[in-house]
Amino acid sequence: MKGVILAGGLGTRLYPLTKVTNKHLLPVYDKPMIYYPIQTLINAGIDDILVVTGGNNAGDFLKLLGNGKEFGLKHMNYTYQEGEGGIAEALRLAEFFAAGEKICVVLGDNIIEKNIRRAVKNFQKQKKGAKILLKEVPDPQRFGVPELREDRIVRVEEKPKRPKSQYAVIGIYLYDQEVFNIIKTLKPSNRGELEITDVNNRYIEKGLMTWDILEGWWTDAGTFESLLRANQLVAQTGANKLEGLKFETRN
Ligand code: DAU
Repeated sequence: MKGVILAGGLGTRLYPLTKVTNKHLLPVYDKPMIYYPIQTLINAGIDDILVVTGGNNAGDFLKLLGNGKEFGLKHMNYTYQEGEGGIAEALRLAEFFAAGEKICVVLGDNIIEKNIRRAVKNFQKQKKGAKILLKEVPDPQRFGVPELREDRIVRVEEKPKRPKSQYAVIGIYLYDQEVFNIIKTLKPSNRGELEITDVNNRYIEKGLMTWDILEGWWTDAGTFESLLRANQLVAQTGANKLEGLKFETRN
């Protein structure tokens, strides 16, 4: 399985912190934000990683990460998203890199306490489709929110005013190669973006979506409140520490 980190967009919600740098290069306690999603993938045994970046200062990712030696990697892949056309638009740039393999997509501002090893292992056994991870949160209206009927997800709503559950769809997604065909059929949403929630709903409609509950805490870091919270959580309890590459996961 290959890993894709989406670190594009302009980070306007964090302006002026993002005036002269990219959101994902900002510090979260003792490391730049982008380190956390890289660690998430490596701890899940995924060592073939593409970073999708964008906006100003994209070259600073190369300066910071190089070929990923600090993480025990031999090589790091990069690509560039023009503008900020949405998470699904950024993911579209990974089609060539994925080359038909399953992928694990991590949003560049999502930080987790533990690891996603079990979900990745389960998805390797899944013949086709997708898997999302859910976490109970106090403020689901900020996120993609699943509507559950018994243990089935019937739909995900993006930032609903009246959430149908207390869960957020977190920014870690597992997809088969069909994801790129789905993205090609998407239309921009009201906020002018190709939405990852629309991708997930297509898989749900086809009956090809599974889900797991994430263990440990999870946070995004894209607003002042959540960036502060991310700093506090990492400082107080530590995030997924780099465990090194223990096993290779290829499908
Ligand atoms: O954090 C989880 C949430 O992330 C999900 O629950 C939502 O369903 C999903 O839409 C997303 O919500 P946000 O509105 O918070 O996403 P945001 O625009 O902050 O983008 C999150 C990351 O995705 C960002 O750090 C970099 C990447 N991204 C985003 C955009 C809009 C890109 O690479 N390119 C983009 O054009």
